[in-house]
Amino acid sequence: MRECIILYFFIAWVLVLVHGVNGEDPYRFFTWKITYGDIYPLGVKQQGILINGQFPGPQIDAVTNENLVINVFNYLREPFLLSWDGIQQRRNSWQDGMYGTNCPILPGKNFTYNIQVKDQIGSFFYFPSFLFHKAAGGFGGIRIWSRPKIPVPFPNPAGDFTVLAGDWFKTNHYILRRYFLESGRNLPLPDGLLINGRGWNGYTFTVEQGRTYRFRISNVGLTTSINFRIQGHNLKLVEVEGSHTLQNTYDSLDVHLGQSYSVLVTADQPVQDYYVVVSSRFTTKVLTTTAVLHYSYSQKGVSGPIPWGPTNEVAWSLNQARSIRWNLTASGPRPNPQGSYHYGMIKPARTIMLANSAPYINGKQRYAVNGVSYVPPDTPLKLADYFNIPGVFNLGSIPTNPPGGNGGYLQTSVMSANFREFVEIVFQNWEDSVQSWHIDGYSFFVLGMDGGQWTQASRARYNLRDTVARSTVQVYPRAWTAISVALDNVGMWNVRSQNWGRQYLGQQFYLRVYSPAHSWRDELPIPRNAMLCGRARGHRTRPL
Ligand SMILES: *[C@@H]1O[C@H](CO)[C@@H](O)[C@H](O)[C@H]1NC(C)=O
Ligand SMILES: *[C@@H]1O[C@H](CO)[C@@H](O)[C@H](O)[C@H]1NC(C)=O
Repeated sequence: MRECIILYFFIAWVLVLVHGVNGEDPYRFFTWKITYGDIYPLGVKQQGILINGQFPGPQIDAVTNENLVINVFNYLREPFLLSWDGIQQRRNSWQDGMYGTNCPILPGKNFTYNIQVKDQIGSFFYFPSFLFHKAAGGFGGIRIWSRPKIPVPFPNPAGDFTVLAGDWFKTNHYILRRYFLESGRNLPLPDGLLINGRGWNGYTFTVEQGRTYRFRISNVGLTTSINFRIQGHNLKLVEVEGSHTLQNTYDSLDVHLGQSYSVLVTADQPVQDYYVVVSSRFTTKVLTTTAVLHYSYSQKGVSGPIPWGPTNEVAWSLNQARSIRWNLTASGPRPNPQGSYHYGMIKPARTIMLANSAPYINGKQRYAVNGVSYVPPDTPLKLADYFNIPGVFNLGSIPTNPPGGNGGYLQTSVMSANFREFVEIVFQNWEDSVQSWHIDGYSFFVLGMDGGQWTQASRARYNLRDTVARSTVQVYPRAWTAISVALDNVGMWNVRSQNWGRQYLGQQFYLRVYSPAHSWRDELPIPRNAMLCGRARGHRTRPL
């Protein structure tokens, strides 16, 4: 009897280690069919990427710690991959869905992602990460709800809306990739903006007077920061990529590429329809689009001028960014429960500085980090690392500080870091365009940002008390942004520009967070269904 009980606990423990799942955390199953289909977001017919016939793709709803089993069938004629922006994939970069971690799903094949949304809450999105497919759609919202007994720092809203907004090109994604990016040219200016896959007044949010709604806004565009606002209504900020914030009220909110915000909006105006507006930021020509906030029983359609929003004002945006702070007393899983409250008291083991640049290499436009322009290898880095396949990448093939000069070279760049290292990272931007940086597998603390060159003295103005933890941060033109992060998630993680042309042309690298223990406690084993491609083909995911 006693042996049975011990055996039972042993088996349960092995299951937790091997699958990274706890039997008590429920599963949600999804079957997704990826197809091409006609869409008309800006009035002209385009080839879009649909998920189960939908553009944007279906919403994912999950509760903290739940397991998502998403079986993706690729009916395109090209390889395809989905990635999950802001989902931390604890101990499990195997599921991250970037080409450095996963082989793409071949045409006619399927792959099942097993993702646990461990210790997370908040608003995120998924997107196609391979072959510039993001320009054709294939993205959708992810909402991670708090567990029922965990208090949320605001009353339950009457409704919860996802707003996937961003720039859009009428040009086919294949043309953008082949005739612009791969030919060494920059992308053209986008043709317009979309809200939930629709152009001007193409999408309606219906509300009832007197009630309060949550809007989760994600910038799913390719090249442009946006400003979001609703005619006649205030936006009360409550959440930023999984951090509950101090509930400041704004007229409008800047959302940089790849970022996600939740605001509460009370329908406290006369019963009629109002504009929901998105406009481009820091662009020579300002692009604008609108959706409709429709009050139930409204007889009056949208009217009046579209409300003002900032266009090129950098100081406005910087001030707003600095005002966004964490609500230290609100619930929410912490990025690193041991230290997050006191992130400002931990001394970083080292400072990494990352500078973006736009060099011409072999006569072609490229983008680089510390002078290195990333080129994808023939085998995903994670698999090469696991199977010890030499010659795919070299550790330390990207400097941790910007070299002098404006040159650049091509390299499959991987930076090494130790498990549990606490690092400070400074993003230094000497270009004239705003940057948006993302780190997979982590949520990091935004310590500070300002114009000019970062120096050690810049630390005097850091927010060491109550900044938000998030996964994507902007860097203003000719400015810096500093973050700190506890590298407590073993794996191979993509660090990238969220500007999709820049990412495609090399402004990215992989961060290999390594633990010499090789324990399943630190990293889950390779999934049984892992796809093997390139030089990993023919290897075994399990010993004989
Ligand atoms: C493909 O789908 C089938 C079920 O239809 C599933 O059993 C199989 O594991 C999936 N393949 C992969 C690689 O996940
Ligand atoms: C912070 O969260 C607490 C706890 O939920 C809440 O009572 C308080 O109003 C919030 N404070 C601010 C300034 O948003």
